Amino acid sequence: MTLSKNRLAIDKLERRKFDTLVIGAGGGGLRAAMQMGRVNADVAVVSKVFPTRSHTVAAQGGINAALANVVPDNWHWHMYDTIKGSDYLGDQDAIEYMCRAASRLVIELEHAGVPFSRLEDGSIYQRPFGGQSQNLGGEQAARTCAAADRTGHAILHTLYQQNIHVKTHFFDEYFALDLIKSEEGDILGAVIMSIATGEVLIIEAKTTLLATGGAGQIFRTNTNAMINTGDGLAMALRAGIPLQDMEFFQFHPTGIAGKGMLISEGVRGEGGYLVNSEGERFMERYAPNAKDLASRDVVSRAIFMEVQEGRGCGPNKDHVLLKLDHLDADVIRKRLPGIRDMSMTFMNIDPIEAPIPVYPTAHYTMGGIPTNRHGQVVVPMKHGAEEPVPGLYAVGECACVSVHGANRLGGNSLLDIVVFGRAAGSHIAEYLKENRYHRPLNKESVEQILKRLERWDQSGDGETVDSLRIRLQQTMEKYCGVFRTDEILKEGVDKISKIAADLDGVYLKDHSQVFNTARIEALELENLIENALATVISAQARTESRGAHSRIDYPERDDEHWLKHTLYFKAGRKLDYKPVRMKPLTVDSFPPKPRVY
Ligand code: FUM
Repeated sequence: MTLSKNRLAIDKLERRKFDTLVIGAGGGGLRAAMQMGRVNADVAVVSKVFPTRSHTVAAQGGINAALANVVPDNWHWHMYDTIKGSDYLGDQDAIEYMCRAASRLVIELEHAGVPFSRLEDGSIYQRPFGGQSQNLGGEQAARTCAAADRTGHAILHTLYQQNIHVKTHFFDEYFALDLIKSEEGDILGAVIMSIATGEVLIIEAKTTLLATGGAGQIFRTNTNAMINTGDGLAMALRAGIPLQDMEFFQFHPTGIAGKGMLISEGVRGEGGYLVNSEGERFMERYAPNAKDLASRDVVSRAIFMEVQEGRGCGPNKDHVLLKLDHLDADVIRKRLPGIRDMSMTFMNIDPIEAPIPVYPTAHYTMGGIPTNRHGQVVVPMKHGAEEPVPGLYAVGECACVSVHGANRLGGNSLLDIVVFGRAAGSHIAEYLKENRYHRPLNKESVEQILKRLERWDQSGDGETVDSLRIRLQQTMEKYCGVFRTDEILKEGVDKISKIAADLDGVYLKDHSQVFNTARIEALELENLIENALATVISAQARTESRGAHSRIDYPERDDEHWLKHTLYFKAGRKLDYKPVRMKPLTVDSFPPKPRVY
């Protein structure tokens, strides 16, 4: 069957043109689209789910900004905490940019309609979160602005409404297959497919923004929506762009034990704490100052150690308990209604009366598509320089700007998406003034994309998509988890490479067009495999412990050899490295020092 004769014949496909194509309708994509819509750019947002079902909706605890509504605070302290939290792998210019912009953009969200919780005086409610301090390492700060424990939900719905207002064009329930690339390497848009009808469309755009979220579904137990399959990251890899720092995957300390759903750090911010089977508040041993509000990598490792050393709870001694039954019941009802609901639904436990069983769960992709702080995707050049990929931007969890480095602070992901969503939107608006015409479509690039789709029309017998995905997720969990060694990671690389090869033997039984979600899952599986390879290969190479990357065989951070970003390339599964940007924009650098909480 040749493409020219079938439904995928390129000349039969509908072609649409926009100034900008945004792929992904979470907070990053919608904040950028809103910015462009405000200057009347013609913007299309493509989303594989209805926009308000994007994963931003699941963000619970809040968004960081040094508003100082509860205790003294300022952006410089926030910057320090973020750099320390990143285990000094975050780029200090980008971190300064983000922390400086935070207060203004949170107030802007408030004015756009986000229903933040309130303090007695009517100002935005702020709660303490992990890794926050006053005065560069002093007392606990309270920097996380919250709408109860449904902050992402509140922000996403507001941004969606604002996009309706600026007349953003939505392609709801369309799956983006791949980026269209010119022979010179410019990005010209993407090929997308309607999930409802199977119809394939070519979207030509002067600029394309990837805002597709993370890849948490590479792990079996995770806090992520089923849609978080690393689609944008895989598209970037297939377009020849490397992924940065993929070995740094964040495990959230408090997922519901055995199931993975997120129990917000906001619980510990409100005064909840962790205990082991002996009833001991064990975080006092691991982080004497910050205790339960140490950064996430520290708390996750502590829980893991407690269980390893036999102090886990329950019949299988495989989790610890998160206590909040000592808190005022009204505080739980008012500030933490979502986690109470979840605990009652999934565990039949009312946290007003009894503690919640918790265990670390895969949560956040800290690496991603390398960008500068304008959201432009950048690739390495000879002699260590970088240059933007013409027409391509990325923001949010799929991007690596890099403000999270080796360990993200809770509350900084919602901030990342609004700060860099806005920055990318503004930069694109300027770019469009200078680049007024669409470049010609590269039909060969489109043909390549269609061939990848057509592969799933082949018939045959073999392993199912489901079975290969479960193998992938279990392998990543076992061989690329909280603690790592060369031996384990090497086995992980071998097994994931085998899974990648086994993809050739997977076939779909259902080749129908209408709502063929099996085909979408097959395409997602291809993307997951690309992400898993990038993660495990990058992890094996990094022979030090830093942030979330914890090597039993290399327990120390090694700044002499490893204060650098990893770049993983799909071609030949090769690695390269680039320096961390240690120089902030206007203030002195924070040089690496031992990281204690
Ligand atoms: O724990 C939480 O509420 C998650 C927040 C975050 O990942 O930023």
